[in-house]
Amino acid sequence: MNQNELKQAVAQAAIDHIVPQLKQESIVGVGTGSTANYFIDALAGIKHSFDSAVASSEATAERLKSHGISVLELNVVPHMSFYVDGADETNENLHLIKGGGGALTREKIVAAVAETFVCIADESKLVDVLGEFPLPVEVIPMARSYVARKLVGLGGEPEWRQDFVTDNGNLILDVYGLDIVDPKGLEQQINQLTGVVTNGLFAQRPADILFLGTTQGVKTLHR
Ligand code: A5P
Repeated sequence: MNQNELKQAVAQAAIDHIVPQLKQESIVGVGTGSTANYFIDALAGIKHSFDSAVASSEATAERLKSHGISVLELNVVPHMSFYVDGADETNENLHLIKGGGGALTREKIVAAVAETFVCIADESKLVDVLGEFPLPVEVIPMARSYVARKLVGLGGEPEWRQDFVTDNGNLILDVYGLDIVDPKGLEQQINQLTGVVTNGLFAQRPADILFLGTTQGVKTLHR
């Protein structure tokens, strides 16, 4: 199986996992990225089994709508059973790095609301220690240089993601060179920097279940 086939397989595993638990009134949170796109395409096949979706990005909202899936604004959703999304890296505790596509803030908000966060990823994303993938940090534009200096102080090498503006009108610093042995602590530390909207560590609210696509089949990891 190639990487796209692995992504497709984990997307289908997520569908198989949620379908028996969906009710007509259920709301499904949907992530962003190439793996999430496979999930959206598969979700179209069961669109009559749930009420609506909440999107973690404008791109995801567009794709959901193109399949005729109703998309709700998060503020009108009091309860969400599932959030399904990919990741850029995961460790065995299902702490994640996300935000390679720049949608980390909305992804983190939707994940916070969901009862169960289902992560879908191919085996290339599983690491022992997070940080080989540069950690995305969303910043208010006028705070970019200040936050970058503070990130250097934390041992990172921030790079301004060029020609990119988030759905929230902000900028992204991709932080290289971090050896993230304490994901929860670093997530909190970076979020406390003035001017940071949020960072791409999902450790305080990790995934609950991970479907990992491997050449031996889809493996299921729980935290
Ligand atoms: C989007 O901002 C990210 O958090 C994605 O979830 C992450 O980059 C995974 O994307 P792929 O599924 O395309 O690898």
